[in-house]
Amino acid sequence: MHRCAGLGMPEIQQDTWWLLKREKLLQIAEQHLNAYVYDLESIEKAAIDILSMSAVSRVLYAMKANFNADVLRTLADAGADFDCVSPGEVNHLRDALPDRAKGRILFTPNFAPRDEYEWGVREGLRVTLDNLYPLKEWPQIFAGQELFIRIDPNRGGGHHEHVVTVGNRSKFGVSLAELDELQRLVQAAGAKVTGIHAHSGSGIEDAENWHAVAKALVNAADRFTDVKVLDLGGGFSVPAKRQETRFDLHYLGQILSEFRKQHPKYELWLEPGRYLVSEAGVLLTHVTQLKGKAEMRYLGVSTGMNSLIRPALYDAFHEIVNLTRFDDAPTETMTIVGPICESGDKLGKDRPFPPSRENDVVLIANAGAYGRVMSSSYNLRDIPPEISI
Ligand code: LLP
Repeated sequence: MHRCAGLGMPEIQQDTWWLLKREKLLQIAEQHLNAYVYDLESIEKAAIDILSMSAVSRVLYAMKANFNADVLRTLADAGADFDCVSPGEVNHLRDALPDRAKGRILFTPNFAPRDEYEWGVREGLRVTLDNLYPLKEWPQIFAGQELFIRIDPNRGGGHHEHVVTVGNRSKFGVSLAELDELQRLVQAAGAKVTGIHAHSGSGIEDAENWHAVAKALVNAADRFTDVKVLDLGGGFSVPAKRQETRFDLHYLGQILSEFRKQHPKYELWLEPGRYLVSEAGVLLTHVTQLKGKAEMRYLGVSTGMNSLIRPALYDAFHEIVNLTRFDDAPTETMTIVGPICESGDKLGKDRPFPPSRENDVVLIANAGAYGRVMSSSYNLRDIPPEISI
């Protein structure tokens, strides 16, 4: 019987990879105080699930979610292409995939300086514009070029307001009200729009969202004779808590197939980040100290918001378990904190936990997306190494 069943919480699914590979993880933790561990099989499996959707012509992995070279190679081998948002990402991808990155990159910078667009065009990348300004102020860069345009479809959502990328309060995308002007500017620049793009937010649970986005994009696409692609972005949710339902990829496939039947002239592309890598990554750390303060019980671990900022930044929930004592019943309610000098350095609040001891291995789940990539050297604490298995 696994832990937490006694507290009325659903058990962790027995086929969770980090349970199956628990011994291996404990061995890794003997060598490393803190470490990100990625299960490449899980990444491959998630990639196959998305890549096998018949309505989808291309899957571009949003590498901002996790730029680890093994992860990039696994996804490239599975057949994914890549969405890059900076020259740094493009160069890193090229280093990880020598000779294999060409033709697979969509370059989607946002509020970037002029020379990044010049660079992108010079490098022969497929470039996405998400503002009229570059076309208005630097039209000569885009003369004769094929472009993608990111539209704000005004439909979307997200797990936190920081990751909602639609509406006037979001800095992304050309608004639907600007389409006439967009058409004029594209023509004046002598550019060709071959793709219409949107990314409507991150951590969206309802597959219908992408139908609404597709409909908004088709209206924009119909204004340009050369558009072949509707890129519907990423944002597919991954369950954070045990009881949450999984994103219904099968249903999304049905919606998109239906949509394609109605609009056969457009290819559909998707740009998942989180969906491909989140569950495949865990952050391993060790118990450092315990403390009680009135009704509060604190469990200290050897890394914190410097490694995983999502709980502090978005109040994001990450499952946290004592891997050393995984089979022990949880009898305490602990708040798991790191060594960073901020009160916000909490990885999990009020969690059921078994009695724990210094040096126990603690596992933080769903850390494969936006974990290592958002880490920092705050307090000059080390960024954990990454290990793929
Ligand atoms: N495409 C574009 C243009 C994007 O900006 C993003 C994410 C994606 C695709 C992939 O979205 P995903 O499938 O991963 O949701 N740091 C936040 C997430 C920020 C997402 C930014 N853009 C987090 O930790 O939840």
